Amino acid sequence: MSITPLITKMRILWASQTFVDVQCLYRNVKIVLEFGIASIITINCREIEAMKKIGILGSGIVAKTLGSGFIKHGYSVMLGTRDAEKLQEWLADKGPNASVGSFEDAARFGDIIVLAVKGIVAGDAIDLAGPQNLHFKTVIDTTNPIAPVAPEDGVLKYFSSINESLMEQLQNRFPEVHFVKAFNSVGSALMVNPIMKEKPTMFICGNNIGSRKQVAEILQLFGWAVADMGRATAARAIEPLCMLWCIPYMQDGLHNHAFSLVTE
Ligand SMILES: NC(=O)c1ccc[n+]([C@@H]2O[C@H](COP(=O)([O-])OP(=O)(O)OC[C@H]3O[C@@H](n4cnc5c(N)ncnc54)[C@H](OP(=O)(O)O)[C@@H]3O)[C@@H](O)[C@H]2O)c1
Repeated sequence: MSITPLITKMRILWASQTFVDVQCLYRNVKIVLEFGIASIITINCREIEAMKKIGILGSGIVAKTLGSGFIKHGYSVMLGTRDAEKLQEWLADKGPNASVGSFEDAARFGDIIVLAVKGIVAGDAIDLAGPQNLHFKTVIDTTNPIAPVAPEDGVLKYFSSINESLMEQLQNRFPEVHFVKAFNSVGSALMVNPIMKEKPTMFICGNNIGSRKQVAEILQLFGWAVADMGRATAARAIEPLCMLWCIPYMQDGLHNHAFSLVTE
């Protein structure tokens, strides 16, 4: 039996109208709950996990990398694009848990959404997806507000300002969506279970605490330590980490680094 670490939370309505919260640590095991002498129920965590669906808005390297990562970890994934043809090669070897559709199809499909489009068109992509399809869902926001102009001395230029991040703009425009900033501060090649000298840290933020927790669990599954920076305002500090990450890349072509938060 292959044991894949995973944390799945379940809420079960027991016969006596009592809710029981269960945390499932491994996908391929059955949990047995005993109540009193005769009452036993079994829950197959794998079946419950299989219900988790990820809708990814995007067809670029981030969408494809995270899509492959989620599939590797047993999720069902739909990538959304305006041109499904360009994803046929990606789709070819992904098996039955992968699919491709429009932005709207992916937004409807996902229990959790990943936003992985050019920062400057992030709002347009959500309009195409249908904001109502994202209401009250966790949207993992990987975008950076990179301006369409040349970098200066290897430093990217942003169209956002230091006191208003892209994610805050999106959060204000779509207040019923639970945005969580994540995956924006590392190159795509290291996003899923990177092998590094020490565990890298992903900085996250967002207004909804439950959504931040959900994203933190995904990040742990993907091999990251998580630094939860609180509300969406913190995206003002997290989005510029991409500028910092990109300097060694722009200047020397380096892309094997990530941030790590160390304490005493
Ligand atoms: N590349 C990295 O290593 C990396 C790392 C961290 C964060 N990020 C951030 O992640 C995001 C995705 O990056 P990426 O390199 O994978 O892809 P990208 O080239 O920045 O973006 C490609 C996506 O943008 C969409 N798009 C472009 N113009 C559009 C428009 N007018 N309306 C709607 N959608 C439009 C495309 O949609 P179609 O599919 O319809 O063409 C495509 O899905 C970016 O915000 C980037 O800053 C990138």
